[in-house]
Amino acid sequence: MNKKLLMICAVFFMLFITACLISKNTNLKINPIGRGINFGNMFEVPPGGWNVQYKEDYFSIVKEKGFETVRLPVWFSGYTDNTPPYTINEEIFERVDSAVNKAIENDLNIILCMHNYTDIMIQPKSQKEKFISMWNQIAERYKGMPDNVYFELLNEPNNALDAITWNELAKEALAKVRETNTDRKVIIGPVNWNQFTYINELELPEDDNLIVTIHYYEPFHFTHQGASWVSGATNWIGTTWDGTDEEKTEIDNNFDIVKEWADEHNVDVFIGEFGAYSKYADIQSRARWTRYVREAAEKREFGWTYWEFCSNFGIYEHYIKQWNKELVDALLLDEE
Ligand code: BGC
Repeated sequence: MNKKLLMICAVFFMLFITACLISKNTNLKINPIGRGINFGNMFEVPPGGWNVQYKEDYFSIVKEKGFETVRLPVWFSGYTDNTPPYTINEEIFERVDSAVNKAIENDLNIILCMHNYTDIMIQPKSQKEKFISMWNQIAERYKGMPDNVYFELLNEPNNALDAITWNELAKEALAKVRETNTDRKVIIGPVNWNQFTYINELELPEDDNLIVTIHYYEPFHFTHQGASWVSGATNWIGTTWDGTDEEKTEIDNNFDIVKEWADEHNVDVFIGEFGAYSKYADIQSRARWTRYVREAAEKREFGWTYWEFCSNFGIYEHYIKQWNKELVDALLLDEE
């Protein structure tokens, strides 16, 4: 074989490899968020923490595994002054800064989510000033950050924060964010704990850079069996998810409702939380359910962040630095 022919073969081989890599990559670019994970029980907790200590190397660990996004729930409302302008403490801001910088260093998208703001669920009217002021401060602080730092206005609006009140509040908070961050991606979800069944009640503000989020924990008796924070959950212990046609169709039908709504509103969808509590559910059911939900989301081009990295629903045992293979495969391994 002469040299020229060899060169041509080499060039074609390189082109073929590049094409394969690009097509693999486009598969993953489900929408700007892609495949991600929640750093739950780290920043949305009172000082002193719950059962997980945040460690900076978690970012490189999840990046190496193949995740593209970290959703960071933060209890901003628990770390402010009690009076206007409700200044957010430097302590929490500095921790969030360090997480944002680590995400950027590791080429990960990061979502800053206002989490565990229980007061606003009970008294939305009297909390309005604080809510808007907090977004003013967060937006100001991170306005110079790259585009792949996203803001999520509020985790799981519920209770007295009904659709009419929430739609108005979200619009005002977004307007505040837009004063300093004209085209940063902002994430908003429906009331009643971001449940998909309430998506029709969400009124999206006029804006080209919104992403809609829902949380998916259905069937709830399976994902929350034995959960101490859910009343009656001990009665559900032993519930399995077998992947029957009926069980799969339920997930598909639910996601179709969301897809149809999102297409009508020309907006990307993001499943911000899905997962099954680890204490009682059997691992085979958890892995089956996780894979099915993840694949059903990706089929419809929804991005997602699994709930969660290393706590109650987790996929990583931080004490022994070990991944749960069944769940990681369910999330990241594509079946041929
Ligand atoms: C809550 C967590 C809870 C999870 C599943 C999250 O939004 O912040 O505390 O474990 O939902 O119920």
